[in-house]
Amino acid sequence: MRVAVMASGRGSNFQAIIDSADRGEIPHVAIEHLIVNNNKAYAIDIAKKHNINYTIIESKGKNRKDFDDEALKLLKAQKIEIIVLAGFMRILTPVFINTYKNKIINIHPSLLPSFPGAHAQRDAILHGAKISGCTAHLVDEGIDSGPIIMQDCVNINETDTEKSLARKILTLEHELFPKAIELLCSNKIELNGRNIIIKPD
Ligand code: GRF
Repeated sequence: MRVAVMASGRGSNFQAIIDSADRGEIPHVAIEHLIVNNNKAYAIDIAKKHNINYTIIESKGKNRKDFDDEALKLLKAQKIEIIVLAGFMRILTPVFINTYKNKIINIHPSLLPSFPGAHAQRDAILHGAKISGCTAHLVDEGIDSGPIIMQDCVNINETDTEKSLARKILTLEHELFPKAIELLCSNKIELNGRNIIIKPD
């Protein structure tokens, strides 16, 4: 499948996907393009290093519709089939999401539906949760609310801080996300309402 990654920052998940592809673990995934919404995103350096085409669509000062229209035009021109949100810190319009219905995947640093939103690790610590983790899910029109593909968990210790928890979860993300992307790209995901059934080999 022709895949585009959308990112806003450091891009460690983007790097993990590339590494997994290089190891031959995700044979149905062809990373064709990176879209970033700010020119400071380190993900750009990763794309350059691996000869992956990238486009910067600045989101600052642009309304959601204009940003999404521009991105959609590019994605269609590139014949992109699957979109991977890897630390993409911007809400997409319903038009965008419905154009790629059930073809957009996101990674979130909590066990959804607990702690959606931009501060999942901090929220888990403040809440006194004993376990957290990460969730790979399809993207719907809500915030971190789409059908869950895979999850993994970590213990939260008394000494954990937002930072240490984020680090522990990130290690899990790098393992889990490429696997979930491969499931989507190999058409192994079947939807029954909001429940995802993984088709056997
Ligand atoms: C990750 O924690 C991911 O769960 C969240 O944004 C962060 C992105 O990190 N959606 P990176 O840019 O992939 O390093």
